[in-house]
Amino acid sequence: MPNQQFPHYIEFRQVSKTFDRPVLVNVNFWVNPGQTLAIIGRSGVGKSVSLGHVMGFLKPDSGQVIVSHQDITHMPEADLRRIRKKVTMVFQSGALFDSLTVGENILFSLELREDYDFQNKEDVVNGLLDMVDLGHVRDLYPADLSTGYKRAVAIARALAAQPECILYDEPTTMVDPIMSDDVGNVMLRLKRQLSLTSIVVTHDLDLMRKVADTVMFLYKGEAIYFGPLDELEACEHPHVKYFLAMDRLEIHGKIDEE
Ligand SMILES: Nc1ncnc2c1ncn2[C@@H]1O[C@H](COP(=O)(O)OP(=O)(O)OP(=O)(O)O)[C@@H](O)[C@H]1O
Ligand SMILES: [Mg+2]
Repeated sequence: MPNQQFPHYIEFRQVSKTFDRPVLVNVNFWVNPGQTLAIIGRSGVGKSVSLGHVMGFLKPDSGQVIVSHQDITHMPEADLRRIRKKVTMVFQSGALFDSLTVGENILFSLELREDYDFQNKEDVVNGLLDMVDLGHVRDLYPADLSTGYKRAVAIARALAAQPECILYDEPTTMVDPIMSDDVGNVMLRLKRQLSLTSIVVTHDLDLMRKVADTVMFLYKGEAIYFGPLDELEACEHPHVKYFLAMDRLEIHGKIDEE
């Protein structure tokens, strides 16, 4: 049943947050169920801080944060834990246990689930690994894997909790372009097959173009663009134009070197 008060799955309403300086200033955006929002912008503009608010780890100084169609702004910790079962975050490092194999890492997350049925654990672990194309690395240790593979394992581990939404913070940083395309394919598959809602913070505009429905561009704490992916290129804001132009130059630079 549509929620009339909070129709969007995630929404920021006039969110502001100041640390030693204003980091978010009256930020508004939303993400609808099953959609992917990309948050882009230069280093230090508040991208990870935005995700911290979605997880309820950070509280806004003013404004409202809606997650899973509920106002979490002043929600007590016990209720936030319930929200964090639905909305999970994939960390840049992957945060895997080095002493456990890939399969054991997934199993560990699975066993945290209260409704977990121990009968079929092998099948579930294999299913999750297949979902991210990693069936063949089940018995390897994280140290044996490239960064891209570790990210994919971290995604499979997050899926073990059967979330409705995944937050990805820089999923392709330090990953080579081919593997980064694979990470993008995995994200698209989860969106299409599991109808997962997601937010991806990224510097990787190829990834953004591949997976995003909507984009928010943060500049000095303000959302200077929030709208459909396909209208971003036409955005007249000078900082957005500059950012996109720099990215094109970087790509040309790479081609020139070859
Ligand atoms: N818990 C905190 N306490 C104080 N300041 C913080 C805290 N978290 C973030 N900041 C500051 O807020 C600003 C925005 O940080 P944030 O991590 O969101 O940047 P970002 O856009 O994710 O950058 P990057 O692309 O480098 O990851 C930075 O100046 C950072 O130092
Ligand atoms: Mg960050």
